[in-house]
Amino acid sequence: MGRPPRLLCCLFLALSLAAVARAATRHHEWEISYQFKHSDCARKLAVTINGQTPGPTIRAVQGDTVVVRVKNALLTENAAIHWHGIRQIGTPWADGTEGVTQCPVLPGDVFTYTFVVDRPGTYMYHAHYGMQRSAGLNGLIVVSAAPGGPDAEPFAYDGEHEVLLNDWWHRSAYEQAAGLASVPIVWVGEPQSLLINGRGRFVNCSAMAAGACNATHPECAPQVFAVVPGRTYRFRIASVTSLSALNFEIEGHPMTVVEADGHYVKPFVVKNLNIYSGETYSVLIKADQDPNRNYWLASNVVSRKPGTATGTAVLSYYGGRSSPRRPPPTTPPTGPAWNDTMYRFRQSVATVAHPAHVQPPPPRADRTILLLNTQNRIGGRTKWALNNVSFTLPHTPYLVAMKSGLLGAFDRRPPPETYAHRGYDIYAVQPNPNATTSDGLYRLRFGSVVDVVLQNANMLAPNNSETHPWHLHGHDFWVLDYGIGRFDPAVHPATYNLRDPVLKNTVAVHPYGWTALRFKADNPGVWAFHCHIEAHFFMGMGIVFEEGVERLAQLPREVTGCGKNNGH
Ligand code: C2O
Ligand code: CU
Repeated sequence: MGRPPRLLCCLFLALSLAAVARAATRHHEWEISYQFKHSDCARKLAVTINGQTPGPTIRAVQGDTVVVRVKNALLTENAAIHWHGIRQIGTPWADGTEGVTQCPVLPGDVFTYTFVVDRPGTYMYHAHYGMQRSAGLNGLIVVSAAPGGPDAEPFAYDGEHEVLLNDWWHRSAYEQAAGLASVPIVWVGEPQSLLINGRGRFVNCSAMAAGACNATHPECAPQVFAVVPGRTYRFRIASVTSLSALNFEIEGHPMTVVEADGHYVKPFVVKNLNIYSGETYSVLIKADQDPNRNYWLASNVVSRKPGTATGTAVLSYYGGRSSPRRPPPTTPPTGPAWNDTMYRFRQSVATVAHPAHVQPPPPRADRTILLLNTQNRIGGRTKWALNNVSFTLPHTPYLVAMKSGLLGAFDRRPPPETYAHRGYDIYAVQPNPNATTSDGLYRLRFGSVVDVVLQNANMLAPNNSETHPWHLHGHDFWVLDYGIGRFDPAVHPATYNLRDPVLKNTVAVHPYGWTALRFKADNPGVWAFHCHIEAHFFMGMGIVFEEGVERLAQLPREVTGCGKNNGH
């Protein structure tokens, strides 16, 4: 007689436990401070979280609430942290974009970010104040799928590793920023080192002044990734580089690409993976090589003429005869030719939605914005511009200004929707490189479907066009098409991929190429859309979208204390 109730009770307990697991809150206490670090063996003042760079990985399960209490202990420097790839549905003020969604966190102040991670996948976080990201404030966010839920992985694996790729300079972010704003410009130059999980090796260590570089410092010992022979591993790979497009390879181990920016993709196999700043991928590898030796993990600069040594880490087999610390017997892979644009282009095109996870885009757009990406000059300064308008951040964050009705906090004139594309020669240096600056924004009708076409062109120097990884806050967009050459609005939309385009939050615009994307303006807030190269955004390569701010309740007090709103 006693049995059925007991079973019921157990069932009840199991159900409520599952409910608890679904709705966990993950608390983090972070203190941001400057510390001397030896990330590439050379000593550098880095911005750290709880003394570390990269910061701790945030782990959560789909549906969890993440709470990060950030104390700014930088003494003389503001801060803000962006949760890159998290859409912040219902919490636009937690996006962490200084000047767009919040006032900076002042030295000594505390700011609490609270947001829901609504989708599984691999994401990242990083500073979004000035060029602070490049000083070391970055890390990973790993959201696992709710087990058995509709978003569970359509692939199997036995173990998991995480790879955070970065490039690293010895000069401070301030020195870099001041150089970029100087007349004439002092360019940041190529990075001194490439880091894997915050570890690299500066090649000229021994030439530096005594005490400035220590080649045997434990902080720059290469990361070792251990694998069990015969097992399949998921590698979650993210790039937070300030400048570099990278090519990543695991020597002797082909990679099957299965996830991009938190979305499952139709699996495809590569020898090496091109990854742009702001992108994340998951790949699967099989540990099926000779276990008695180690293998290189290698990252190499592509798309710019490399001036930086290969970044390395080590893959080592459990039970093999090689010590995990022993360098592999080979030279590290050097990746594809840095200027092989079509090699990278083809990998971009190969990335489409997983057949079982296709989310078809709306069939047509309500509005199309055509953005010509150019380098320009304003008052002797070198800038980047969209349709000859170079972006500047307003003093009052847009979200704050719009919710408080502070007219005049930013330029009311909307930036241009298009440029004179007919006959525009993208291969020539702009005849008139003059541009204007603006902090105006694009206001989108709530719920409308927006197409953006990013058109690349020649820079100020002849015969040169760079890769720009564009990142959208608050949304994922469908990548409808890529092209090389001039986009023609009368021709190209007819062949857009509306069948199985991948959803992403960051996408490459290849040299002399164009990229077409579509998104739905259905997330109330104000959202930055910009080139993820730190120096390019700093030089004006971005725009801002607004949609549905009238639907938002009052903003939390902590986001509003700056600019024209100060003291209210
Ligand atoms: Cu990861 Cu606005 O950037
Ligand atoms: Cu760029």
